[in-house]
Amino acid sequence: MAGQRKAVKAQTTGDHRGFGKVILFGEHVVVYGATAVVAGVSEYTNCQLRLTKGVPGFKVVDNRPAVPGYKVEKAAEQRKAHELVMNHLSIDLSVDGLEITLAGPLVPSSGIGASASDVVALSRALNEMYALKLNEEEINHSAFVGEGGYHGTPSGVDNTAATFGGLLTYRRAGGVPKFASLPVPTPLYIVVVSTGITASTTKVVGDVRKMKEDKPEWFAGVMSSYDNIVTAASKAINAGDLKGLGALLDTNHLLCRDLTISCPELEDIVTHSKRLGALGAKMSGTGRGGIAVALAASKEDQEKIAAGLTKDCKSARFVWKYSVAPQATKSK
Ligand code: MEV
Repeated sequence: MAGQRKAVKAQTTGDHRGFGKVILFGEHVVVYGATAVVAGVSEYTNCQLRLTKGVPGFKVVDNRPAVPGYKVEKAAEQRKAHELVMNHLSIDLSVDGLEITLAGPLVPSSGIGASASDVVALSRALNEMYALKLNEEEINHSAFVGEGGYHGTPSGVDNTAATFGGLLTYRRAGGVPKFASLPVPTPLYIVVVSTGITASTTKVVGDVRKMKEDKPEWFAGVMSSYDNIVTAASKAINAGDLKGLGALLDTNHLLCRDLTISCPELEDIVTHSKRLGALGAKMSGTGRGGIAVALAASKEDQEKIAAGLTKDCKSARFVWKYSVAPQATKSK
């Protein structure tokens, strides 16, 4: 972990944040070049650094309000991710080390982009502490490198949402990330529901890759069906057609089922959400646990769906109400 950059201060003073995210369309297929639609949510992780004079290496004080079991299950991957960021940014920890304190309102849970928000916030904090002069693109790239610690072939969608926030389209073409803000006429009111089950992104992405390799024609069909969904979804978003958007979320969920990345708990949440009046509902992110997302027609409906899930749906371990801002906003 030897590097060349020495700290220019004893601790950070800035508020260094990475947003959480919710994938509305395109988890897993985005790894193979499809366009995803992703929303940065207003909740975030922040990171503070303190120099540990004469104590090399780094240690993490993790004050994030995670779902039970999350931090322990992800500890090894998190360490690897932090090491990758330190190496990428050539941070010298051979004499004076770092204490990394993570906090903020985002509740780490599979699917919500907690790992990406962690490495974005860390990259921003290192930028201050070591006077690296990184721009937003470089912060995003540093976080992408760190995401490699959480799973070997990240598409980059999570770190991009964690860096920029707002509603974005994202795809990786020939190794190059391409993303654009997707303006919405009015805020989107969504309910994000955690099963409380921590899934391994490495394992689930690996299983999908195996299916792709074993059945290439079938997978090409999945990609083509998905392309139709995301083209229609972009149009629905531009037109402010929430009903159409909801129906497309439902269709994308069926595709996730075909990819075997749903699970009984996610199905339960999706069924309850629809019964409670959601315009559409689907699993989101890695799957096989993690989170589901439901689209509400209005703020009032969002309240109703969230309250109903909390009361009646056993699989809904955590229920969050988020709104998606009409424009992408830059994080600090
Ligand atoms: C995880 O939030 C999203 C996946 O598509 C993986 C990735 O895009 O890197 C499953």
